[in-house]
Amino acid sequence: MSKTDIISFENVNKTFETDEGQNEVLSGVNLKIEQGKIFGIIGYSGAGKSTLIRCINGLELPTSGSVKYLDTVVNELSEKGLIDLRSEISMIFQQFNLMPQRTIAENVALPIKYKKIGKKQTAAKVDELLSLVGLSDKADAYPNSLSGGQKQRVAIARALINDPKVLLCDEATSALDPETTDSILEILKELNQKLNITVVVVTHEMKVIEQICEDVAVLHNGRIVETGNVYDVFSHPKEEITKRFVKTTTNLNVSKGLYQALGLPEGHRLIRVTYNNENTIDPVISLVSRKYNVDISILLGDIKLIQGKLIGGLIISVEGNEDDIENAYKELKLNIGIEVEVINDVE
Ligand SMILES: Nc1ncnc2c1ncn2[C@@H]1O[C@H](COP(=O)(O)OP(=O)(O)OP(=O)(O)O)[C@@H](O)[C@H]1O
Ligand SMILES: [Mg+2]
Repeated sequence: MSKTDIISFENVNKTFETDEGQNEVLSGVNLKIEQGKIFGIIGYSGAGKSTLIRCINGLELPTSGSVKYLDTVVNELSEKGLIDLRSEISMIFQQFNLMPQRTIAENVALPIKYKKIGKKQTAAKVDELLSLVGLSDKADAYPNSLSGGQKQRVAIARALINDPKVLLCDEATSALDPETTDSILEILKELNQKLNITVVVVTHEMKVIEQICEDVAVLHNGRIVETGNVYDVFSHPKEEITKRFVKTTTNLNVSKGLYQALGLPEGHRLIRVTYNNENTIDPVISLVSRKYNVDISILLGDIKLIQGKLIGGLIISVEGNEDDIENAYKELKLNIGIEVEVINDVE
């Protein structure tokens, strides 16, 4: 079966006019999102993530280039066209955006309030959606009495009332604690699998990408610097920024305080090695240690499963005489697929 791109960006640029002059926020963005996928866009604050995702449903318009939803060019739609589009492409946000004066059931029904849909039919749909997100007992409650996680569930139910084909999530879990985040991510996965909704998530957290996304794009300073299958991108990161994200997920970081507390001997070399499914590290470490007569202490190790495959690493201290250390380091570097980095300059 051939795969359909449900969303595509062609050479999209976006510039905001500000008092300080022009601010180019998206530069030459090309992107294809396949129907039925959970697609992640990861980047640090200010990278342009919200601007990018808002171009998908026409909340922002590109300065040049085009954004397509199937065969529709989003940036050429009329106001009416955009309203229709937004019932097919709905959105949830970090801050939930619920109406405090309305009950949960009324909040969920809000997007269809002015459509000619009977009361009974609306009520049935609201019930069905509240049950789907596990909040059947909250229909008559008000948003203020709900936790953050529950509010986001309501927002999800509201986003589904028009049976959308695409759900856009702009930092939907960033205001939530880790456990609540997990439960919201589970719901997004379920919607994708059960209802075949294409989900686009924007985040600065690797956890979100790891847990639910199949494909990812790394956005840095308004440019997509890497894109592809999540495991492929993060097991062989090419760009510095992607490597930084991998480091956050594998927890292979040594703080200055920790480094000092370790009290390592004079002349040691502190090395971070990272590896993936195809290249494991253990035999290499003991081999190098024997061959070059260096002592290797393993200070920190971590391993992650991404889409069922390994990404992991170690922080080691290599100790011995200077030439031996250098030779051991060189040999470690010869191992294809294993990334080796000296990190003595701990910040
Ligand atoms: N309406 C606007 N007018 C002017 N500048 C804007 C506007 N919206 C966004 N920007 C600028 O665009 C840049 C990218 O903003 P954007 O909100 O897309 O980033 P982001 O990756 O979503 O960041 P965050 O993680 O903090 O949400 C920022 O420098 C921001 O100041
Ligand atoms: Mg944002």
